[in-house]
Amino acid sequence: MSILAVLGGQWGDEGKGKVVDALCECSEVVARFQGGANAGHTILIGEEETILHQLPSGILRENIDCILGTGMVIDPISLMQEINNLTKHEIEINGRIHISLLAHVVTPIHKTLDASREASLGSMAIGTTKRGIGPCYSDKISRTGIRMIDLRDLSLLKSRLEDKLRQSILQGFILETEKNDLFKEFDDFYKASEKISPFIEDTISLVHQYIDEGKNILIEGAQGTLLDIDYGSYPYVTSSNTVSGNICTGLGIGPKSVDNIIGVFKAYTTRVGAGSFPTELDSSEGDYLQRRGNEFGATTHRKRRCGWFDAALGKYAVKINGFTSIAITKLDVLDALEEIKICTHYENGAYPSINLNEAVPHYITLPGWSRSIGNVREFDNLPPQAKEYLKTVEGLLETPISHISVGKERHQIIEI
Ligand code: IMP
Repeated sequence: MSILAVLGGQWGDEGKGKVVDALCECSEVVARFQGGANAGHTILIGEEETILHQLPSGILRENIDCILGTGMVIDPISLMQEINNLTKHEIEINGRIHISLLAHVVTPIHKTLDASREASLGSMAIGTTKRGIGPCYSDKISRTGIRMIDLRDLSLLKSRLEDKLRQSILQGFILETEKNDLFKEFDDFYKASEKISPFIEDTISLVHQYIDEGKNILIEGAQGTLLDIDYGSYPYVTSSNTVSGNICTGLGIGPKSVDNIIGVFKAYTTRVGAGSFPTELDSSEGDYLQRRGNEFGATTHRKRRCGWFDAALGKYAVKINGFTSIAITKLDVLDALEEIKICTHYENGAYPSINLNEAVPHYITLPGWSRSIGNVREFDNLPPQAKEYLKTVEGLLETPISHISVGKERHQIIEI
């Protein structure tokens, strides 16, 4: 039995889904512990691309059970769409989706509030995914939230939601004119809530049963370390703890249960939304990374900002999460570059979660390999320059590399 976690070391979109997919072969359970439909994994079902926002990608493998843990905020409408998509493709889901009855529910009101708060912030907007994540976690912490267990009593749910709408209008957070549209969405929300109700259960006992049965459990993080509400680049962060510390509260397990934590890093850095980004490239190299890496957000389709690998942030992420190994993804995106830079540290000693906006990156320049590495499956067969690049990253992060992704296909991965 082992519990293995896969977490993002940067600003999300590191390619965690690909690493999770590779590790699924040895897992019986895949669990999420935080976040919600702000996440997005693009996956192929047959020839068709689809996006999973809340279900872990393990759902595509028929022998894997999926847990949506207590620390998540779950949007029934979006979840129902994911489920419908899977059943359309004849993927059996019955008995395989387990939603914590203590997880909080994202309602249409939260999504409207997310959009209006962003609009009111003007140039200070966070650039959220507008999936209602912040307002839902706010309600949770204010102890006024709706939990999955509350979906079981539809008439009570209806009156609570209508009360919340009345309050939001009275407080001026929602306009009277938005009411009709929201009522229409409420209908979809109730239908979706009924549909997902059978999947709601006590996942705390279930996780402990799996542990007692000696099952291999894979924990899938969403977003990344620098988007963590406490340890990220506040206020330009998400509203949950994305780091390993939250695995325990998000799933109801003790810290000693987690055996290994893999930190996933892109071979360069990307970020969507606003906020500091010390190694951001406003140049043709940045455009190259964006184009070649197809860097568009899976949830919002926004162009991702791109920059060089930042080992100052990497070292920080290793410390905060206690990564036992790291996975480097999208190494092939660097194939055509003649020279590649890595930020080794910040010259003025700036610290990621404290004053990232003041960071002055110090770079080293390494030679590129100028050839395609998509077909390489062994570390030893990589070009010497690619090995040097990886060894440099490994040395700077003082953590062994366990996986290297060299393309988007499932088999394009090197395991060390
Ligand atoms: P929220 O999580 O929708 O509130 O968005 C807060 C910040 O986190 C914004 O900058 C988003 O772009 C970013 N964010 C949220 N989820 C993801 C993700 O899955 N990948 C990358 N960025 C994300």
